[in-house]
Amino acid sequence: MGRLDGKVAVITGSTSGMGRASAELFAKEGAKVVVVGRNEGRANEVVEAIKAEGGEAIYVIADMSNPDDMQNIVDTAVNEYGTIDVLFNNAGMFSLSPITDLSLEEWNNILAVNLTAAFLLTKLAIPIMKENGKGSIINTSSSAAFSPKYGAVGYVTSKHAIAGLTKSIAMELGPDIRCNSIAPGLIDTPMAAAAGPEAEAAGQAMVDATPMKRKGLGEDIAYAALYLASDESTFVDGQIIRVDGGEGI
Ligand SMILES: NC(=O)c1ccc[n+]([C@@H]2O[C@H](COP(=O)([O-])OP(=O)(O)OC[C@H]3O[C@@H](n4cnc5c(N)ncnc54)[C@H](O)[C@@H]3O)[C@@H](O)[C@H]2O)c1
Repeated sequence: MGRLDGKVAVITGSTSGMGRASAELFAKEGAKVVVVGRNEGRANEVVEAIKAEGGEAIYVIADMSNPDDMQNIVDTAVNEYGTIDVLFNNAGMFSLSPITDLSLEEWNNILAVNLTAAFLLTKLAIPIMKENGKGSIINTSSSAAFSPKYGAVGYVTSKHAIAGLTKSIAMELGPDIRCNSIAPGLIDTPMAAAAGPEAEAAGQAMVDATPMKRKGLGEDIAYAALYLASDESTFVDGQIIRVDGGEGI
């Protein structure tokens, strides 16, 4: 028996990194997974990998910076799988620009992808989850929501805001709908690799200072998400759970 048997899970940003790890783990645990990403080739690859393991998944192509794409995600999940039990707002982008360099355009873009998409998808999922009398929403935050990373004001702000969004959703939508967030430390994903050599060096120094002395893996986050998605966590609400190798001690 799987820990997510019978559940339908929508996971944004699930064509790579921790989103993909979560899609694969959720499917292994019995969920029907809606993979959401921008790149059709990568989305198809994840769906095929899930099916090859005997799981169930479909994909939807969507750009998180485009509010008009959000309805299609929800409609596809409902049309294909009948409902949404779990919404994992995981897609995100990083931007290494101190405030003096950050343009309004980039600021708006990062908030659109990291924050507004989660707000919009949540609003669309509410009536479906209310009708079911239950639902779990998971938002990906960051250790940057606890301590800012120098030179990443847009990213840091978006992840602080995810904390506020998470707690507010939890307060306003209980007891039917729970909302929690995961705050990863440094995780070995394409995003971390793309941050550049300076960030890499700073990241390694940070990792060396943690008790676990390693970067996280996508699976480390996927297992936390699995718990929050499952009925094992039905008394957990409004929390920001750090999965960071002890960075936040
Ligand atoms: N890697 C880390 O060290 C780390 C640490 C803390 C938090 N996070 C957060 O974890 C989440 C997942 O990131 P990851 O590390 O797995 O990296 P990743 O780059 O592998 O995953 C991010 C996903 O979001 C998608 N995405 C970005 N912009 C998009 C857009 N406009 N439309 C649709 N999809 C879009 C990407 O295509 C990608 O699939 C993000 O929210 C990120 O901020 C990452």
